[in-house]
Amino acid sequence: NHYVAIMAGGVGSRFWPVSKSTYPKQFLDILNTGRSFLQATYDRFAKFTPVENIYIVTSEEYVSLVESQLPQLAKGNILGEPERKNTAPCIAYVSHKVHAENPEANMIIAPSDHLIKNEEAFEKNCLQALSYTDQGDSFVTFGIKPSYANTGYGYIETREANGENISKVNRFTEKPDLETAISFVKKNNYFWNSGIFVWKTESIISAFAEHNPSINSLFESIQETYNTDQENTALKEIYCQCESISIDYAILEKANNVFMIEAEFDWSDLGTWNSAWENFTKNEQKNAVSGKETVVLDSHNCIVHSNDKKLVLVGGVDNLIVVNTPEALLICSKDKEQDIKSYINQIKGTV
Ligand code: GDD
Ligand code: MG
Repeated sequence: NHYVAIMAGGVGSRFWPVSKSTYPKQFLDILNTGRSFLQATYDRFAKFTPVENIYIVTSEEYVSLVESQLPQLAKGNILGEPERKNTAPCIAYVSHKVHAENPEANMIIAPSDHLIKNEEAFEKNCLQALSYTDQGDSFVTFGIKPSYANTGYGYIETREANGENISKVNRFTEKPDLETAISFVKKNNYFWNSGIFVWKTESIISAFAEHNPSINSLFESIQETYNTDQENTALKEIYCQCESISIDYAILEKANNVFMIEAEFDWSDLGTWNSAWENFTKNEQKNAVSGKETVVLDSHNCIVHSNDKKLVLVGGVDNLIVVNTPEALLICSKDKEQDIKSYINQIKGTV
């Protein structure tokens, strides 16, 4: 009887202007599937997890968005964080809260903005990980065979394969520089970290106590307020004291009880327009065009997306991202998509 915590508090700024801080990527249906990334993530877990054991951890400002997208969830299962402090505090919070109710809890932590195909394999891998962590004090993550040197991911170095699909992790390196990433992908015992983790709340809490005692003691100090009227006030008091750090830097790089299952499911981190482009339907000129009033002529390899009423005509260009919304228009070279985040920072206040 496991738990699932879905992290849905990020901003997804590389998908601007469709994703914006008032309506980030995880709430969007960028691939036109009929469900947002968050809803699709929820659906995937609801197939093998009781609804009362599924928690969403998000920013306070997105709680009502989560409520409207997932009306089947009890209000108590949607946790709003008073400040954005990256994934380590988010995980410390939900782990302490669930642990206070069930000290035996075994939990899957998942991002809310990935595309996973082959859901049967996903369920099988999750159940295997859960039964592994249930037996001991270990962490399991899912590794993906890297296809290129992406510097936005964590890299897992495994021990010599022992013939089984679960291996001990030698070293975990979060977001290496390009040179390091290139050297990693050349070897065959390096994997991308999928960002989905499985462990007992008891194990992750002791890892916090060992590797980041300051975050751990803050969440421990408000233990008696969990599931009471005082919880939100207590959270506000501790969040402003919390370090902003991801779970990868805070725990995974330091822990020595990490194991990896080589994922049998198809995984894609839809972090950027290009990664979405790979999953869009493309026409003969390799353009991915969406939106009613969009016409693309004499152009190749473009992403053209509009959710506005006005006609958008793109002609005679290659390798461009053109995204039109009622509020803003983005035109960016496809090779510069990693820079969208910094471009937006330069015009902060206007978006
Ligand atoms: N509740 C909450 N609060 N959620 C958050 C916060 C926060 O402050 N910050 C981020 N999230 C959510 C995001 O919405 C996303 O679903 C998930 O946590 C992961 O955060 P990202 O910001 O997308 O992480 P990343 O992509 O840089 O890196 C992680 O994922 C990679 C794979 O996609 C790491 O785990 C890498 O090691 C991994 O390779
Ligand atoms: Mg991400």
